[in-house]
Amino acid sequence: MSLILGIETTCDETAAAVVADGFTVRSNVVSSQVELHAKYRGVVPEIASRAHLENILPVLREALAKAGLQSFDQLDAVAVAHRPGLIGSLLIGVTAAKTLAWAIGKPLVAVDHVHAHLYSVVLETNRPVPLPAVGLVCSGGHTALYRIGTDWRDVKMIGATIDDAAGEAYDKVATILGLGYPGGPILDNLAKTGDPRAVRFPRTMLGFDSLDFSFSGLKTAVLYHVRGVPRRGQNVKSSLIPKPVGQALNDIAASFQAACIDVLMGKIDRAARQIGAKSVVIGGGVSANRGLREAAGVYQLPVLFPPQAYCTDNAAMSAGLAQFYLDHGIVAGLDLDAVTFSQFVAQPPPAVIRESQPGAAVPH
Ligand code: KG4
Ligand code: ZN
Repeated sequence: MSLILGIETTCDETAAAVVADGFTVRSNVVSSQVELHAKYRGVVPEIASRAHLENILPVLREALAKAGLQSFDQLDAVAVAHRPGLIGSLLIGVTAAKTLAWAIGKPLVAVDHVHAHLYSVVLETNRPVPLPAVGLVCSGGHTALYRIGTDWRDVKMIGATIDDAAGEAYDKVATILGLGYPGGPILDNLAKTGDPRAVRFPRTMLGFDSLDFSFSGLKTAVLYHVRGVPRRGQNVKSSLIPKPVGQALNDIAASFQAACIDVLMGKIDRAARQIGAKSVVIGGGVSANRGLREAAGVYQLPVLFPPQAYCTDNAAMSAGLAQFYLDHGIVAGLDLDAVTFSQFVAQPPPAVIRESQPGAAVPH
């Protein structure tokens, strides 16, 4: 049996997990910072990195204990999500992983956080993923489509949001509606009893064959629906705008959710046709969405979602994917660096398909 400890600190969750043989999750510890960031309605990078620093050692010890291990020496490797993310946050995890790997003399494995979100669909089950597959990662920080070719080393980005991520749109719409943070689970819940046809919000599909996303227009459409379209020179103080309540609120939530899901499923369908996909895998925080899971359930290809516990950020997905890399001889050196989101997007955009191989800084 091979035991890998995964470390995840890319954004606002400090997480560590021990996974056996790539699939069996022996422990999965996530210390959420949601309460620290809630009053800012988004992640504050400086607060996040300070909290990671405080949490990382207790979280590592808890992951070890919950896996029934007495010592870090019992591990076979240490994995870390080293990209993409907030630089201060990434550095805490990368430094902890390098130090631990060096101290116990075991391999260090570097994982792309987004690829790990895709891998999360096979955690616990080790079920087969018919390939090639369309991968969709939709969370608060990412909304992008991938082609998963021959195996987990062959993951290529084929489309991405040009503005907001889907989860970000959920969070911002929740703010417009006077709801809490994170907005995704709250709106998903309200949408259950709302009418998805009550408000006809826009579905932005971009060019007829585009695999990119745009959610900022949808977010603005919700804003204008709630407060009215502003007239020239009008300055409306947002705190004075009456917030929808009761059925009207539920109807807006359901209509917004329906627009998001139509776009996500529409783009998946386009991508599936373009690459001749045999299945679809969906990961990231928005993959927890009830409506999206229902819509995917009637899609013509098998659609694989992670177990609920592994939709949002966690370290089990990184530890699992790391086992695949380790089995294929892909390990990192102790000179491993953190790669931020802006370092990703600062790369010149490639012509058609953006290549992304483990262990190398690539465009995202
Ligand atoms: O994957 P994640 O934990 O962190 C990032 O990498 O961003 O995703 C968090 C995002 C938040 O924007 C949250 O609102 C969204 O996932 N989310 C949901 C649901 N649960 C979480 N969005 C829609 N429906 C949900 N049920
Ligand atoms: Zn994530």
